Amino acid sequence: MNITIIGTGYVGLVTGVCLADLGNHVFCLDLDPVKIATLNSGGIPIYEPGLADLVHSNVAARRLVFSTDVELAVAHGDVQFIAVGTPPDEDGSADLKYVLAAARSIGRSMKGFKVVVDKSTVPVGTAEKVGAAIRDELEKRGLTDQRFAVVSNPEFLKEGAAVEDFMRPDRIVLGVDDNDTGREALAVMRKLYAPFNRNHERMRVMNVKSAEFTKYAANAMLATRISFMNELANLADKVGADIEMVRQGIGSDPRIGYSFLYAGTGYGGSCFPKDVQALMRSAGEYGQQLQVLEAVEAVNDAQKHVLVRKIFERFGNDLKGKTFAVWGLAFKPNTDDMREAPSRVLLGALARAGARIVAHDPVAVQETKRVLPLDFADAPSCIEQIEFANDPVAALDGADALVIMTEWKAYRSPNLERLKAVMKAPVIFDGRNLYEPETMREAGVTYLGIGRNSY
Ligand code: UDX
Repeated sequence: MNITIIGTGYVGLVTGVCLADLGNHVFCLDLDPVKIATLNSGGIPIYEPGLADLVHSNVAARRLVFSTDVELAVAHGDVQFIAVGTPPDEDGSADLKYVLAAARSIGRSMKGFKVVVDKSTVPVGTAEKVGAAIRDELEKRGLTDQRFAVVSNPEFLKEGAAVEDFMRPDRIVLGVDDNDTGREALAVMRKLYAPFNRNHERMRVMNVKSAEFTKYAANAMLATRISFMNELANLADKVGADIEMVRQGIGSDPRIGYSFLYAGTGYGGSCFPKDVQALMRSAGEYGQQLQVLEAVEAVNDAQKHVLVRKIFERFGNDLKGKTFAVWGLAFKPNTDDMREAPSRVLLGALARAGARIVAHDPVAVQETKRVLPLDFADAPSCIEQIEFANDPVAALDGADALVIMTEWKAYRSPNLERLKAVMKAPVIFDGRNLYEPETMREAGVTYLGIGRNSY
């Protein structure tokens, strides 16, 4: 099929590349000429495992093109995916200006029936606005009878596993209108997603608003599980329970399950913080307060400080003359994404308290250097206290403590003898509960995890 993807950000690029790999002819549009030039010269603007190879092979097979030409883009695809950004407004609601601009550009030059797919995460009711924007442009062209359908098809990709998630989805949520154009669009989308439905049906077809809502509900539920466990972990520390044992104990109940119950330093990234806020905002517009989500957000904000608190408890509030090794900066492994990363809160607090920091991350150092000036706008000189090491062990040299912020594989099996030899004192603050407290104690390492300090 001929597919157009508007927006070559994270979601757009992964969607476009994967659909091309399934044999479709995909035209990826972006208004940023630098990004398109990068892609056309074989560069990939984001770090995502497996993506580069797929881009290169599909470009070589002539199934994938990148361009800034809006008219060509609209002419190409029978299906037009809108996958542009929805940055939070000043008040936390999703800003739809890019989505609606994309809709207008479709309306300005479309010919023939088009299925317009909202792929960006957008509040309930956005499909209606997209439809109205397209209709408005069609009317200006005198094409009041031109048929098109707007469907909602939210993505559930996880950064670091996006290609895998796209290629092996657990569900494909599709919202369509219950009318002729809706049914026609459904048939087109069924054909597009047929490769995923061979062994069992993964399509969840529903009305458009339910599909839009599903995306927010999923992320809000996952964020809730995390905040819930983080709050319990802090209590576990006080009462002498081990949150990891508790996770396993409750997870064995199939109604609960094991996943997304890991206590840590709070969730970050581009989705959970933004979507939780946007859902609360939408609720507010209908006069409803989402009290659970308010608590989820407040607990998460506090949890980003949990290790800072533990560090201050041990070393006092003045960290001048102290050196901290930090392993991991990205908000999670396999990405260089620093958006809302808990490490930013930690670096901010430690540097302001006078500490010297030597940080390591396998891929996010560049991105960290980019965001540091933003985080230290009020105290730019603090940035000089933050250095970067090329390998994890080098970061430990002379450190008073090691702080772990991201569960990269490279950190899972440290050489403890080496660690003890190079650090000033073997103290680990583990924001990801990577190690067994018992093993650490036996090795003579002071180990402070999250909700596991009963040993
Ligand atoms: C998330 C959703 O998982 C995905 O379905 C949606 O499309 C986009 O948002 P992503 O933000 O890439 O994906 O990362 P995810 O792996 O879900 O992790 C989000 C954050 O939660 C990370 O900061 C992670 O460290 C944290 N987390 C996750 C926990 O603290 N505990 C857990 O048990 C799981």
